[in-house]
Formats: sequence, structure tokens, C-alpha cells
Amino acid sequence: MNEIVLDSPLDMHLHLREGDMLKRVAKYSASSFSGAVVMPNLNPPVDSSERLESYKDEILRHCDGEVFEPYMALFFRDSLKESDLIKAKESGALIVKLYPKGATTNSQSGSEEILSSANKRVFEMISEVGLKLSIHGESNGFVLDREDEFLPIYEEIAKNFPKLGVVIEHMSTKNALDSLNKYENLSATITLHHIALSLDDLIGGALNPHHFCKPIIKTPHDRDALLEAALEANKKVCFGSDSAPHYRDKKECANGAAGIFSTPIALPFLAHIFDKHGKVQNLQKFVSDNAREIYGVNPPKKEVRIVKQESPIEAHYDEVVPLCAGKKLDWSIL
Ligand code: NCD
Ligand code: ZN
Repeated sequence: MNEIVLDSPLDMHLHLREGDMLKRVAKYSASSFSGAVVMPNLNPPVDSSERLESYKDEILRHCDGEVFEPYMALFFRDSLKESDLIKAKESGALIVKLYPKGATTNSQSGSEEILSSANKRVFEMISEVGLKLSIHGESNGFVLDREDEFLPIYEEIAKNFPKLGVVIEHMSTKNALDSLNKYENLSATITLHHIALSLDDLIGGALNPHHFCKPIIKTPHDRDALLEAALEANKKVCFGSDSAPHYRDKKECANGAAGIFSTPIALPFLAHIFDKHGKVQNLQKFVSDNAREIYGVNPPKKEVRIVKQESPIEAHYDEVVPLCAGKKLDWSIL
């Protein structure tokens, strides 16, 4: 196969930022995807329907008139009321995103005790209103164990709130995949970097800060398990890039920011991987159909053409360095 036409590809986990960065990066999502879940970890976070509406307007202003639906995410707070959730849903929210305090970029006002009674009250309301609870599931333990240490919490929530759709965001371990398959109401997003890279690509040779993200990329064993779930288009997983742009000087320094930028090359890179494994026929499911099923969305119609034609990953896109800069892909986006 030398050409793939994707029908309305979706990116179910994306960071678009605001202001100057948004202006630089929005076009890459708007030209490649029909829609994306836009994460709320701005500073201050997107934690009200007013913020959510103005953020959505700002995003749409930078989409150059492309067909593109920003599915919005509301920042989780234990003070949320049912009326806040209803309003947020009316304003375009698809998920409520819960961050453990300090787990990642701009999560200082995240949750200190995930299973507190105040949080559980909000979980119940999220389920009643028909939004999904999306979680950055990491403990504050040893960096390679953080996601696995959080798995009992995902399982506890899935078991006690059977009508609540719970999303394991940027799933990064084989054990998480095993948990996912135990509960009907659990689903997960999988990034490009967690199926394409392992720790060796971050620290195995020379240090590459552009491959540093939360959750950290893991062992080849984890990568291969996630890769298989993606290649088989396991119905409980869908693509979420977690593309998280930071300016180069914020990455190439002491105290470097966590986040991998992948949007401009996400689809050709996925085509490259799926083709290499003889699974091109499953790409449509992984980048769109599974998400429609899991989230119940009907994205705007958009055909995206990818052809088997070598293309290099640029050294930088608008002052942001992507993953695998300089690598040649066998596929290009038209
Ligand atoms: C993300 C960011 O920079 O906003 N960083 C990251 O390493 N993935 C936040 C997140 O999803 O953890
Ligand atoms: Zn993210």
C-alpha cells in the first residue's frame, strides 16, 4: 500500500498552550487532525466554563479556518458542583482531567488525595452528567514505578463507579495495559513516543532532553506491549499524542521541562510504524474509530492523505524541537 486516506483522525490528548505558543503550534493539529482533546493545564488552569469557552475561542482563532474540533477538558477540583459540570459540558467539555498535585507541568493545584471523599463526590457527579474522568495516573514514587504504583487507584475508581468512564492517559507500562483489560469502564490513550521509543532513546547514549516527558518512556518490554495494543487497534485504546511543546531553551537546560512535541509528524510516523509491522489496515481504528466509540463523538468530516514517500523530521518546528529530529520517515503527509 502506497497511500492511506484517514477519515477524520483524532488526537485524544493534546497540549496547545495559549498565547504565542498556541499561535505557533495550533496549525499543525488543525491541518492533520479533525479534532483533539485539549488539555487544561494552563497557568492558571482551565477550571470553569467561562475559561473553557474563551480558551476554545482562542484556539479556533488560530486554526486558519481548517475543519477542526477542539474537545475541551475541564481541570478537576474537589469543589466542582453538578451545575459547573453541566455548564462545562454545554460549553464543549468532553472530559474532566484530574492531576495529582505536582505530577507534571502546571499541576501545582492538582489533587493531594485522589480517593478523598470530596473527590469521590465529584466522580459520582461526573458520571451522572455524562463526562469522562481522565487521569494523569502517577504516584510520587520512584520515576519508573510511578504509573504502576497508581494502578490500584484506577482500579478502585473503575470498580466503585461502574457507570463512570475512566481514561488512563498516556498509558506507559505493560502492567497498566493488564489493568485496563480488567474493567469495562476503563480505556486509555497511547502516545506515539511510548510505542516508538524506550529509555535508551532518552538516556541510553547521549542525553536527549527532547525525549523527556511524564510519564517517562519506559523499557523495551513496556514499549512492545503498548505497540502491540496499538497495532492490533485494541478497542480499549486510542491515539492521544500528548504532544506538549516547550520552547527549546526550556528543554535544553538544568531543570528542563517535561513534554515531547510530536504533532507535525505524528500521522506519518504512525503510518511508518504500522506499515513496518504490516498493520496499516488498523491505523484508521487506532487514530479515529476507537476514539469515536470510546468517547461517543462524531468528529467533523476530514480526509487526511498520507503517502509512502520519504520525509525527514525537521530539526525544529517554529522554535520547538520534535521527537527524533533528523530521523527519516518512510511516509509523508500531503
Ligand atoms: C505535559 C505538559 O508539558 O503539559 N508534559 C508531559 O511531559 N507529558 C503534561 C502531561 O501530560 O503530563
Ligand atoms: Zn499531557
